[in-house]
Amino acid sequence: MAGRLDGKVAVITGAASGQGAAASEVFAAEGASVAMLDIDGDRVFRAAAAIGSPNVKPFACDVSSSTSVREAIAGIVAAFGRIDVLYNNAGVALRSAGEWDDTQDGLTGDITEEVFDRVLGINLKGVFLMSKYVLPHMVKQGGGSIINVSALAGAHVGTTNHAYCASKAGIVGLSRALALGYGPAGVRTNVLCPGLIETPLVSHILGDSEWTEKYSKGSPLGRLGRPEEMAQVALFLASDESSFMTGSVVTADGGVMIS
Ligand SMILES: NC(=O)c1ccc[n+]([C@@H]2O[C@H](COP(=O)([O-])OP(=O)(O)OC[C@H]3O[C@@H](n4cnc5c(N)ncnc54)[C@H](O)[C@@H]3O)[C@@H](O)[C@H]2O)c1
Repeated sequence: MAGRLDGKVAVITGAASGQGAAASEVFAAEGASVAMLDIDGDRVFRAAAAIGSPNVKPFACDVSSSTSVREAIAGIVAAFGRIDVLYNNAGVALRSAGEWDDTQDGLTGDITEEVFDRVLGINLKGVFLMSKYVLPHMVKQGGGSIINVSALAGAHVGTTNHAYCASKAGIVGLSRALALGYGPAGVRTNVLCPGLIETPLVSHILGDSEWTEKYSKGSPLGRLGRPEEMAQVALFLASDESSFMTGSVVTADGGVMIS
């Protein structure tokens, strides 16, 4: 049976864990060659080995560093010859369980400039750098699909994590601009906006069963999301099935925003 991404080369950032790891597996099963990128080199090598396909290759890459991004993209093009899909999924929240300290995100009056710069550097500048250096390949090929991961915080609502919120709102603005600027070259850009998904990024929230129960009960589907469910939405946006979609914000949150 034909795969939904047959013949395509997909780059997935933040692929060592959570949603990026799940998408790598799903995209590979649908016929894509997959470049799995993560700042945690050991972990992304293990995650790629676990998928166990010759068409899946790991790359250690810090998306906030232009040198690292350029090296990884050169390696991907050398290995696979082209790039059709860019799934900008890497992100950090900089929140942990327990008492707040100044290594964490929080209210503008409390957080340090370093925390703000780090969150924006990975979450927003990372999307800019990856897009900047992948786009010439997509434009030369005549098209491609970029999927940028935002969050309810930023795309739809405010939050007490001000740096995270700013970074995720910035992703929506940049994505719309990319969709406008590169649509004529055949490059589509859409935003995937997940609700609360069970991954290590939100372990500080998942550890609070009272809170997660209240959150789940307050949403129509009555539960949190799973990484594989986000991978299916990303698969649709990556594939030609979404060929008339660009500049869209696709929210997959179990209905929590309407409740
Ligand atoms: N889990 C949720 O509830 C939720 C909700 C909304 C949005 N998101 C977004 O989904 C995306 C994926 O997160 P997840 O939930 O799978 O979390 P996760 O922590 O499981 O995965 C994030 C991955 O990004 C990698 N990463 C961090 N900094 C990096 C850098 N500088 N360069 C390259 N890779 C880096 C981490 O090593 C990790 O493997 C993030 O952008 C996150 O903000 C998550």
